[in-house]
Order: sequence, then structure tokens, then C-alpha cells
Amino acid sequence: MAVSGDYHEGMSFKHRTIIDTIPAYKQGKPAPKSDDKRTYKVSSNENPFEPLPSVVKAIKKRALPHLNRYPDMRGWPVVERLSREIGVKPENIVLGCGSTEVITQLVQLVAGPGDEVVYPWRSFEAYPIIVAGAGATSVQVPNLSNGRHDIDGMIAAINERTRLVIVNNPNNPTATSVSDTDARRLMNAVPSDVLVLFDEAYFQFNTYADTNVAMDLFRDYPNVVVAHTFSKAYGLAGLRIGYGIAPEDVIEGMRKVALPFGVTDVAQEAALASLDAYDELSDRVKSIISERNRVVTALVRQGWAFPDPYANFFWLPLGERTDEAAAEFEQAGLSVRAFSGDGIRISIGEASANDAVIEVCAKLKKAGF
Ligand SMILES: Cc1ncc(COP(=O)(O)O)c(C=O)c1O
Repeated sequence: MAVSGDYHEGMSFKHRTIIDTIPAYKQGKPAPKSDDKRTYKVSSNENPFEPLPSVVKAIKKRALPHLNRYPDMRGWPVVERLSREIGVKPENIVLGCGSTEVITQLVQLVAGPGDEVVYPWRSFEAYPIIVAGAGATSVQVPNLSNGRHDIDGMIAAINERTRLVIVNNPNNPTATSVSDTDARRLMNAVPSDVLVLFDEAYFQFNTYADTNVAMDLFRDYPNVVVAHTFSKAYGLAGLRIGYGIAPEDVIEGMRKVALPFGVTDVAQEAALASLDAYDELSDRVKSIISERNRVVTALVRQGWAFPDPYANFFWLPLGERTDEAAAEFEQAGLSVRAFSGDGIRISIGEASANDAVIEVCAKLKKAGF
């Protein structure tokens, strides 16, 4: 399996050897510590806005008074509400502790030892962990040099062992988007009994004109699964709630392997209140997109070349000089997500954080990056 990262080796107890191949998930670092300047965490693609007062109020009023009780395991009020908004049956929706758990449910459902999961690489770092955790094999298809999915490569990687194909639109960390034509080309090439997951954690930020939302594909093909989250556009990363949309029999299977009682009442109430506050939240999304455009314009003016970003982050392909540049950001009070030897992913934060990013980029450019 072509994975990179840290490996846990030499465990002193009997265990599944596949665990030794799992790379440790590297969480985005917290903001650097400094006594004399404001510092920022732009390493985890979080929403920089504080939780909405209406969401905090809903949690206090409707969830905190009965923390002694287990949550509704199926999260029925959230499921029903989403089903009305999305226009599918409640039986087409499953909740998870973030979309990370939704993806885990799906992989657990379809892939085990001897089975393959095809996905682009570099992409969301949880994929190799989830696939190896299920005992299945990752087939990582390198992105094109422009950071986009290699759809032809993904199609070529599909064989009789393939149990799942993952599309990450927009892709973390390259922030690129998949075109409607490419997505449909892929769907037409995948056998109809092999599921295709569209991980759309950042779709609300996707302004790419030629993309589709996976819900369109869901209506056109029998084997599409969509993963969405409340972590990014809705700003509830700390509460862990996401959902999957899939054919009914797929959802039934996913529910069987879901972490029992995983999605708390606090998360469910926050999700409901967030759906009520959709207009306010989408204003926030618009302001993050406009900050992203501001950063992109400034960096292009400085002479940087990088993929047009369609998420709440962007990607600087710095190759060998990645660590050197990351140290400069850290020095300036910014924790960014560096993938050694490859590039740096930087989240769009509050305006002052973005100003600081632009400043460091100018300095790097002057230093010959
Ligand atoms: C592409 C992608 N998918 C899924 C997730 C999972 O988010 P969550 O589990 O918070 O819903 C992330 C989080 O960073 C992501 O980048």
C-alpha cells in the first residue's frame, strides 16, 4: 500500500498486522505561542467564526438539561429535517460523528481483507487510515500536476477487487474541483454495483462553474453515496456531526456498522439550530469566499502559481522547500499544514490572519520561493 507518514511498529502484543501500516493522523497544529503578537491556527480548515448565539442557546436549552440520557441513536429529527431540505427519504440519510465516521461506516460496510478502495492522492488523510482499519487495501491514484484528480488513472485502477471509489470534491488539500464531465465519465466507467463516494465536506465553498453537486449524480446513478458535514460551512467541527446520503439499502448497512450512540444530543440540537440559521451561516460562507478571493488575488500579484482554490483553504505546491516555508509561517505566528516534500495547505481564516499569510508569502517570494 503506497501510504506515507509515521508507522507504529514493534507492538508487544498480538494484533492485526495491518495496523502496523496505518499512518498516524497528523492533526493541524494549534496556533504558535507568542507573548508579543497575535497568532493564528490556519492548519485545520476550520471556520474562523465563533458559534452562532442561536446555536449556543439551543444547546443550552434543549440538550444540556438531559445529558444524563443517551441521544436518539438515529438522530431522527435531524434526519427528517435534512430529508425535507435535500428532497430524499429519511431512509436515504445516516448521521455520523462528523463525515469522518460516515466515510468509516461506508468503508466498513463494503471493504475488508482482499478488497480495494480507489481514491486520489494526496487527499483527505483519514482515507488510508479508515481503509487499513477495515483490513482493506488502498489504491492511491496520484493527482495530476495541477492538483486535480486523475480521473483516467482512477478509471484504470478499477478492477474486480474494487469495492469503493472515492472522489473528494473539492479535494483536501489541493482545493481543486472535479468537473461535471469528469465526474460523469467516472460514474459511467464504474460498475453499477460498486459504490462511488463523493466526499463533499467543502461543497458550500465550491464556486467552480463546471462542477456538479453530487446530489445531481445521486439522482442519476444507482451507486452514488454523498458525505456532508456540519464541521466546515456550519462551523460545528468541535461537535462532530455529519451525514451520508445513499440508496436505502446502503444506508441500512451503514447504520448497522455505525458507532452506537456516537452522535450526541448536543451535536443534533446544534445541527437543527444551524439549519434554522442557514441564511446567517451562508453569509459567513460568502465572506470566507470573498476573503479567499482577496488572498488569491494578492498572491497571484506576488507571482505565486498554485491551483485555483474552491474550498476554504488553498494549496502552495512548494515541493522540497515545504518545511523551510512552513518554518517562516510558524515564525510569523501562523500554524499551517505542511506536507513535507510536497506542499503547504493554508486555511482561510479571519481577515487579520489572511493579512499575515499574505505578508509571509510576500517575504517568501522575495527570498526566491
Ligand atoms: C475532505 C474531507 N472530508 C471529510 C472531512 C471530515 O470532517 P468531519 O469529520 O469533521 O465532518 C474532512 C475534514 O477535514 C475533510 O477535509
